Amino acid sequence: MTWSLGLEDRGVVVTGGAGGIGREVAAAFAAAGARVAVVDVEQERSAEVVAGLERPERHLAIGADLADISGHEALLRRVLDEFGRFDALAHLAAVLRRRASVEDITEEDWDVQLDVNLKATFFLDRAAARLFREQGRGGRIINFTSQGWWSGGFGGSVVYSASKGGIVSMSRGLARTFAPDGITVNTIAPGAADTEMMRSGSSDEDLAAFVQMIPAGRMARPDELAGIVLFLASDHASYITGATVNVSGGQLMY
Ligand SMILES: NC(=O)c1ccc[n+]([C@@H]2O[C@H](COP(=O)([O-])OP(=O)(O)OC[C@H]3O[C@@H](n4cnc5c(N)ncnc54)[C@H](O)[C@@H]3O)[C@@H](O)[C@H]2O)c1
Repeated sequence: MTWSLGLEDRGVVVTGGAGGIGREVAAAFAAAGARVAVVDVEQERSAEVVAGLERPERHLAIGADLADISGHEALLRRVLDEFGRFDALAHLAAVLRRRASVEDITEEDWDVQLDVNLKATFFLDRAAARLFREQGRGGRIINFTSQGWWSGGFGGSVVYSASKGGIVSMSRGLARTFAPDGITVNTIAPGAADTEMMRSGSSDEDLAAFVQMIPAGRMARPDELAGIVLFLASDHASYITGATVNVSGGQLMY
């Protein structure tokens, strides 16, 4: 084994790739030599992210609403066709609807968050695993959960946290299922990272109080989440599966 990341010319998909953390993950993969499909419901922002990557002509911007699970297979097949190989799925796309009181949560709030965050994750992971099996080289699935999977969530995020808890248990089940095919499934649990999602629906005072609970004394920069994604996609992580990696500046310790 070489001690480089070994990601040169690998085909990777980054969903939520136009978001705060996703764009840093896309940039990191591109810098490591991978070919990146940036997938996001925000088509124009995906194109901007790709235009800003190293050697943009090697990458792809794809606008897709992942809540529509009927499009998943074709989306991943397109990536495989364009890049000639598909090796890793980093799945970050998610929505958070903060509601100060549980009394304010509507059925639509529930459905939107569970559909995008949990249901789409299952069907996208399964579609990726089918293509990995077809290529016969194994593969990497990296899902994004949140510390809310463990804590139940702060700041009006009970439903979001339930969806993120589902991602952890589902990823463990998929890890066990896909392991014989050399496909690993892991989740990353960020603490507070300074993005639109983290700030949405939160006052500056609430945020400051939240940050005080973090031993590191600050939110993560979005790029501080990129290294662990690349590691889990690399050859060095070939024997890690079913893990939930805590990246929270000590906010929670497990
Ligand atoms: N920022 C944090 O503090 C934090 C903490 C814990 C977990 N996370 C997780 O990290 C991941 C990235 O979060 P972020 O902070 O970068 O959020 P973000 O809101 O900046 O990015 C999320 C991206 O997902 C896209 N998206 C939403 N719904 C979609 C859909 N239906 N189809 C396709 N794309 C869709 C959005 O357009 C957006 O670009 C998420 O899974 C989030 O739950 C973030």
